[in-house]
Amino acid sequence: MKLTDNFDRIHDYVRISLIDKCNLNCIYCNPSNTLAKFETNKSILSYEELYRLIHILIRDLEVKKIRFTGGEPLIRKDVIKFFEMISSLKKQYGFEIGITTNGTHLLEKLEALKKFGVDRLNISLDTLSRTKFIAITGKDFFDETITAIQKAISLDFKSVKVNAVIIKNINDDELIDFVEFFKSYSITLRFIEYMPFTGNQWDDSKFLSWREMKYRVEQKYSLTEIESDGKVSKDFFVDHAKLKIGFISSISDHFCDSCNRLRITATGQIKNCLFSNPSEVSLKSLLADRAISDKTIVEFIQNSLQSKWMKHPSADELAALNQNNMMSIGG
Ligand code: GTP
Ligand code: 5AD
Repeated sequence: MKLTDNFDRIHDYVRISLIDKCNLNCIYCNPSNTLAKFETNKSILSYEELYRLIHILIRDLEVKKIRFTGGEPLIRKDVIKFFEMISSLKKQYGFEIGITTNGTHLLEKLEALKKFGVDRLNISLDTLSRTKFIAITGKDFFDETITAIQKAISLDFKSVKVNAVIIKNINDDELIDFVEFFKSYSITLRFIEYMPFTGNQWDDSKFLSWREMKYRVEQKYSLTEIESDGKVSKDFFVDHAKLKIGFISSISDHFCDSCNRLRITATGQIKNCLFSNPSEVSLKSLLADRAISDKTIVEFIQNSLQSKWMKHPSADELAALNQNNMMSIGG
């Protein structure tokens, strides 16, 4: 049975946050790090609970892809053991596994992640300057991140993407440098529109639309559009290069019509949109209780999708709401 919402959108892609803490403090994400102080590890889904959840998602709800996010997923204790656990599910059901990571703790884990079936790595890198890296993230993990990206590329994952959130007067002068740096690699470099989240001081003057970014890149490189039916990223080939470029236009040109994503926070709450409030009831109490049937859990997940809105509010409305914390969901 497929996970379908009231607008007939099929949800076959689930994003699960493994932990609501991050070792960085990026200005666009969690500048005050407030959530990290209040959450305790006890309330997050255990690996056994996550295993049960994933089993239900892929066996009963026809989910085809799971992406693990954070906070920063790779700082969770024994995270490699967890990927080993779910590799048996992957062998049985053949779903895709992705991770979105800041790359700081990736290098030494890459081979094990590959071995245990991780297909897709999305790695954040917002600047090519160490000084700016420290200014944006609050920490000096510049070398670790770059080295991890380069090794990830060499290991032949099914897909490696580099994510750069573009903010005016912070890193918008680096668009061409980014293309130059990655042009000989077979990866997708994504320039992401800056989105408003609680405490991230979003305002219009710092915002650069995907069209403006594309215009600037095209001053030096020719781009050829890659046809797709409504994805998160508008992708292009860079002519005469191995690199592909994607633009993520959440704000200036939302892609809600084709949304196929459901999110689960580290504490087991369901978020049926990146910008919606998490469900009041957590899946944790259900997953932890073996007396509760898988069928009940399936119904709970399906019900939570029925309140999904057709599209998320505009940027100004979101900024005014000031209610979403990126740290708890990791995109
Ligand atoms: P894949 O398609 O699996 O490669 O992942 P992705 O590009 O959706 O995920 P990633 O974690 O790399 O996120 C890249 C950017 O897209 C982040 O800024 C996310 O917040 C944003 N993003 C991902 N999914 C959604 C979504 O459903 N809605 C909106 N508005 N933004 C999203
Ligand atoms: N706007 C756009 N993207 C963001 N991310 C984090 N905060 C924001 C924001 N305010 C991105 C990260 C990472 C992904 C999970 O979400 O850079 O690539």
